[in-house]
Amino acid sequence: MVLLLLLPCMIYGASLPEPRQAVLSATNAEITSLAEQLYSADVNKANSGDVTLNLQYKATGTETSSGTDFASQKLFGYVNEAKLFARPTFSRFISLLDNYIKTTGTAEVVTSGEIAEQNAFVDEIFKTTVFSRLSSFFVSKGYYTTAESFKTDFTEMWFGLYTRTKGPLDSSGFEHIFHGEIHSGKISGFHSWVQFYLLEKSGQINYLSYSADGPWTGYPDVYGFQFKWTTYIKTLGSMFLGTSPEFDIAMFTLCYVTRPDSQCSVTIGGHTLKIQTYTWANSTYGVGKRYVASTYPVV
Ligand SMILES: *[C@@H]1O[C@H](CO)[C@@H](O)[C@H](O)[C@H]1NC(C)=O
Repeated sequence: MVLLLLLPCMIYGASLPEPRQAVLSATNAEITSLAEQLYSADVNKANSGDVTLNLQYKATGTETSSGTDFASQKLFGYVNEAKLFARPTFSRFISLLDNYIKTTGTAEVVTSGEIAEQNAFVDEIFKTTVFSRLSSFFVSKGYYTTAESFKTDFTEMWFGLYTRTKGPLDSSGFEHIFHGEIHSGKISGFHSWVQFYLLEKSGQINYLSYSADGPWTGYPDVYGFQFKWTTYIKTLGSMFLGTSPEFDIAMFTLCYVTRPDSQCSVTIGGHTLKIQTYTWANSTYGVGKRYVASTYPVV
């Protein structure tokens, strides 16, 4: 396999493109097995008492899009910040959250300080067992030639900028999924429980209701929420709960790389989970590679 891939590269003298789709095929069983390994390896996740939720009202049907505030209390009752947010992957992740202009249409200005924060986050998560397992899997299956080439591509696919508004470079996969955006008058993306918690705490997020609660007891779990960010609504925001940032982005990357533009079916803790992935089709980096457009747990 490796020799066959190297041959055209030698002929044309070009650098070896990182293959992603066509030739490669991790089976569903292999992807599921890896997902279970990431799940067991997530030592930075919250224990049950570290995060408590006040779910309050379960919305169904048209209630989910009504914008009705069914919740008098905040969603998060308690988060053990002293323990969880002191962990290096959490603190590096949180340091990224003030780097973005949430409304699309204005170009992101990426300072050298912000690049340093991005690199520090990527370096930190690549030190975890979650990421060493993911890297080994991609290399063993031929998606990447080395862990280092995966890391380089990972940074580009998540942090590379593109435009959602036909002009200004106003978005990235990371901003869309972990920070969230305001696009066309609503919340777009936003699939991070840590970002939800921090914005709820600072009074910018108003929790309305939940519409999905996964079968897991303890963390990680998966939920579907209705909420407002100032005046903008998210009628179904799905997210992992209680997970580490490295677990979220590893699961999304596993599915994005192996099952682009589709639903990736895995189990975690023996329970089935589907993760939707979308590639950004309007612009590319490297040799025709696509940025992350979106990815989230299906609820
Ligand atoms: C992306 O491409 C599609 C199809 O060509 C087009 O309809 C859409 O307007 C483009 N979006 C942006 C933001 O460029």
